[in-house]
Amino acid sequence: MGGRVLASSLLQPSLSYIATSTAHGEDSPYFSGWRAYDKNPYDPVTNPSGVIQMGLAENQVSLDLLEAYLREHPAASHCGVGFRENALFQDYHGLKSFRMAMARFMETIRGGKARFDPDRIVLTAGATAANELLTFILANPGDSLLVPTPYYPGFDRDLRWRTGVNIVPVHCSSVTGFQVTASALQAAYDEAMAAGIRVRGVILTNPSNPLGTTVERAVLEDIVDFVARNDIHLVSYEIYSGSVSAAPDLVRVAEVVEDRACRGGDDGGGHRSVAARVHVVYSLSKDLGLPGFRVGVVYSYNDAVVATARRMSSFTLVSSQTQRTLSAMLSDAGFAAAYVHANRARLRERHDHVVAGLARAGVACLRSNAGLFVWVDMRPLLDESTVAGELRLWRRVIAEAMLNISPGSSCHCSEPGWFRVCFANMSLETLDVALRRLSCFVEKWNKCI
Ligand SMILES: Cc1ncc(COP(=O)(O)O)c(C=O)c1O
Repeated sequence: MGGRVLASSLLQPSLSYIATSTAHGEDSPYFSGWRAYDKNPYDPVTNPSGVIQMGLAENQVSLDLLEAYLREHPAASHCGVGFRENALFQDYHGLKSFRMAMARFMETIRGGKARFDPDRIVLTAGATAANELLTFILANPGDSLLVPTPYYPGFDRDLRWRTGVNIVPVHCSSVTGFQVTASALQAAYDEAMAAGIRVRGVILTNPSNPLGTTVERAVLEDIVDFVARNDIHLVSYEIYSGSVSAAPDLVRVAEVVEDRACRGGDDGGGHRSVAARVHVVYSLSKDLGLPGFRVGVVYSYNDAVVATARRMSSFTLVSSQTQRTLSAMLSDAGFAAAYVHANRARLRERHDHVVAGLARAGVACLRSNAGLFVWVDMRPLLDESTVAGELRLWRRVIAEAMLNISPGSSCHCSEPGWFRVCFANMSLETLDVALRRLSCFVEKWNKCI
């Protein structure tokens, strides 16, 4: 009888609003594509006709460099200390040695053009936690954040789900290479405020996921002025800041903040204080290819934000063992600089390889200079220029070419037919198999029309 009661969902005790909310976004094709891969994963030997995962922005191209470092410096993975030091209580400040190493590494990937104070670094379990934590601090339930589209699908979960904060998409167009402008942000801000939606800030992913492009300096300056003018915050989301593989180099928001401070006063010309409303999110998941280690950073120029983020980070600490290992590795300045240089060169090679392969298949993509993916223009392959048409094409690519790529609609792109294609989470051989499959798919499609 007990079994019968448990089996009936009608009699299940009710759960919280968050537990039953669908704001997690798990049903998005972005995540269901991953499941298609999980059910039938490609393996060159055991499953050569399986699905190749091109929907995961993972960087495997430089892991060998980290492995070699650990082989040559075995003390790093032993963390220089014994079991007890790692096992005992760690407070929410994180290890000073690791925050110092992170600050120096963040400077290294910015070519020394900006300084980071280790005491402003708050450690979190990845950028996912960092973004949610900052949202909790900057906005109240029912408030909103402006997010230029197309954007990382995980934002629907990270910024909205548990915080109750909304996203106001700021639609960008292929005509301008999907670059956001301060005037588009201002229009979205005015429209939201007129509708009674309180806007608390902007999240700018720079370099962009999914576009793989960097924001121009003039645009960044305009956005900094925009947030000051409207008394809101700017979260500069720089998770790919060390993965810029070609010119123009990325201008990180820290450089803008520091330049303005040097020019005497940080207000950018009569506006409200800038530095206190600028916050940077970073993580080692992409540039170092370590999503499994769960290391993220909130860096803020605002003392109250740093203090609150630090308290909140109790919920999402990085293990002492991880901190010690990475601290040893990243404190080696020579190694860190060589790694960043080599990683960029390898990503550039991959990028050029995939762009050339796509071109041979007759597929164009947005000109890009950063990230682990390209933003591919498959509009000519749509049977109709709608989200439904895009998803039909996406399903065919999975079923016939056995490739999981991410449809632009899952990134809230307003123009159907764009897809994100990742290139750094597989071997070069697998990438070539994927490119051949895509080429055959397009050829078949061309014959059918
Ligand atoms: C823009 C963006 N944010 C966050 C993540 C996840 O980062 P983390 O592993 O640091 O939580 C990803 C990974 O795909 C990403 O591309």
